[in-house]
Amino acid sequence: MVLFPIVRMRRLRQKKLRRLVREVKVDLEDLIVPIFVDENISKPLEIRSMPGYYRIPIEGVVDEVESCLNLGLKSFILFGIPSHKDEIGSSAFDKNGVIQKAVRLVRREFPDVDIITDVCLCEYTTHGHCGVVKDGKILNDETLPILGRIAVSHAEAGADVVAPSGMMDGMVRAIRNALDDAGYTDVAIMSYSAKYASSFYSPFREAAESGYKFGDRRSYQMDVHNSDEALREVELDLKEGADIVMVKPALAYLDIVRRVKETFKVPTCAYNVSGEYAMVKASAVQGWLDEKSIVYEILTCIKRAGADLIITYHAKDFARWMKNLE
Ligand code: PBG
Repeated sequence: MVLFPIVRMRRLRQKKLRRLVREVKVDLEDLIVPIFVDENISKPLEIRSMPGYYRIPIEGVVDEVESCLNLGLKSFILFGIPSHKDEIGSSAFDKNGVIQKAVRLVRREFPDVDIITDVCLCEYTTHGHCGVVKDGKILNDETLPILGRIAVSHAEAGADVVAPSGMMDGMVRAIRNALDDAGYTDVAIMSYSAKYASSFYSPFREAAESGYKFGDRRSYQMDVHNSDEALREVELDLKEGADIVMVKPALAYLDIVRRVKETFKVPTCAYNVSGEYAMVKASAVQGWLDEKSIVYEILTCIKRAGADLIITYHAKDFARWMKNLE
């Protein structure tokens, strides 16, 4: 092996040359913007634990998408806050539900944007769990047909991709079958395959009003101690028909992102979640971290770990900063 002084690693770290040899770079097309659509409000409402992030009324969704398009962002994942909740989350599959209405508006205005919808019960149930509950237990099999109905109603409204996030066994197959039976063979599934029972989701639960009334989510979301198990989850979802798989959260789970990408070589999404956003924002206001460079580093490192796509609340800020750099 040739060594110093022939080899000088610093040669390619000069200001002019280092850009040439970068192995990964974050492209705006890799980013997915989360949008919280709230049926109960008439103007945007800032989320207390997510400074700078808002719930948007249904009528505001088109403007929100347009402002993202102007920044070069064209992929969105929609979460709904309904006006009505019940035991089985029936407003989640209502033709005139919050997401169905929002998707129709965006689809009509912008035929070319990517519309992804979160498919889950927790925002729509009175108990706040991601499945049907009986005697304090979250039932798996009884939840599956409901997820199928939700997915079909989103496809009908014009979604391109449905993203089941409830961690029920068999959810991808149930949704694929339901979509195919309804004729939506081209609607893709992005599964929250390796979704951990993480404490990083608490700001989201405020954002989406999806906190649970009893217990926790550990009987369905993954145990943070495990990594091989994530590979099994991903493998099962791929066999059931998932087109894109997801690891969530991102930052403390980049080892999982890397293993999933290396093992399966399929489109892999990482979800840079609400608690990760909140930590950056909280330290930025204190002046303890430089928000711009931290966000740049975080997104770059998620890509370097192997993610093809990143769902991130930093998307608009990042896009704005990129624009100013040009
Ligand atoms: C609900 C869902 C959650 C998130 C996305 N979909 C919350 C949860 O599982 O409790 C979290 C996203 C975030 O924290 O940014 N199924």
